[in-house]
Amino acid sequence: MTLATSLCVVGAGSVGCYIGGRLAAHGNSVGFIGRQSMADALAQHGLHLSDLHGQHWRVAASAIRFSTDLSAAADADLILVTTKSAATADIARGLAAIARPGAVLISLQNGLRNAQTLAAALPQHIVLSGMVPYNIAHAGNGRFHQGSSGELAVSAHAALAPWRALFADAGMPLRPRRDMLAVLWAKLLMNLNNPINALSGLPLKAELQQRNYRRCLAMAQREALALLALDGIQPAKLTPLPATWLPGALSTPDWLFRALGNRMLAIDPLARSSMWDDLERGRPTEVDWINGEVTTLAERHHRPAPVNAKLIDLIRAAESGGKRNWSGAELLTALSTASAATPATSNP
Ligand SMILES: NC(=O)c1ccc[n+]([C@@H]2O[C@H](COP(=O)([O-])OP(=O)(O)OC[C@H]3O[C@@H](n4cnc5c(N)ncnc54)[C@H](OP(=O)(O)O)[C@@H]3O)[C@@H](O)[C@H]2O)c1
Repeated sequence: MTLATSLCVVGAGSVGCYIGGRLAAHGNSVGFIGRQSMADALAQHGLHLSDLHGQHWRVAASAIRFSTDLSAAADADLILVTTKSAATADIARGLAAIARPGAVLISLQNGLRNAQTLAAALPQHIVLSGMVPYNIAHAGNGRFHQGSSGELAVSAHAALAPWRALFADAGMPLRPRRDMLAVLWAKLLMNLNNPINALSGLPLKAELQQRNYRRCLAMAQREALALLALDGIQPAKLTPLPATWLPGALSTPDWLFRALGNRMLAIDPLARSSMWDDLERGRPTEVDWINGEVTTLAERHHRPAPVNAKLIDLIRAAESGGKRNWSGAELLTALSTASAATPATSNP
């Protein structure tokens, strides 16, 4: 099924080109809004999309509508926002000036509050939170690869009905959720691995195969889970194990984790976190929208969050030129030291 109405992706990078590209490969008319360098690459090579199951999709350069100007979203009935979180406020201001009232916007970004930022600027529009559970890597020359699996989730809303059919037909069903905050928190708990992966310098699979890195992630998750419990938030179950069991599973010895965590390790061997990618390219990361949510929650409850605060510090140092690769043992020591040096409560 394809619709006569118009659909566009704002932020044509890994997520935007892959998801927009899959929809375009199925015959839908998709507008891509992004940078000139991406426009040039797609004009030369078109889109080559693949996934970990060995499937391939191709969109010819001649079939790609690309603009570097946000005003190309003016007629869109559905706008997928796929920039990094730091760009959302600017995008929201820009779209507020041009987007068609009544248009549906879905934030497919990580973090908790991108949809809120968009909604605050776009009161006459339907703004929904979405969640992309899998990893997408950009290999250059219009090539994007989905390196892990899962189902797209989006806040349940009647306005989604026509778009759900379109996504389903393209092989990417949108799962409507009424508990989107719980879904976003569950994704955020997994994203707490992003700074660890970026600091490791390793592909995700190689990093998660090492217990010391997994113990770092378990520490960051335990800290977040304790705060979520104080807030009465139960993260959604996105993995075979409930979120509250993950730190225990992550901490098991490598031989046991290989058996327990086979779904978690079902990742393309070359896939890396987008935070690693940002550091490599010298761009600001999303650490404030990921670990920063944990430290903000901690402040609200007058509790410390030393593990996540330390990860933020280390990523900030890497962002400002101090990037180096941390071994699992080094990182675990740094996080354990920060944790041991912090009292269990802070003064209100
Ligand atoms: N990649 C993944 O595996 C993955 C998976 C799940 C969720 N996510 C989340 O999805 C979001 C997008 O991630 P991503 O990896 O797709 O990011 P990305 O590859 O950096 O793509 C975003 C693109 O948007 C462009 N952009 C930013 N502001 C723009 C503007 N005003 N006009 C036009 N283009 C603009 C960026 O250009 P500049 O770089 O020049 O700013 C970049 O090319 C993030 O929140 C991420 O955490 C990513």
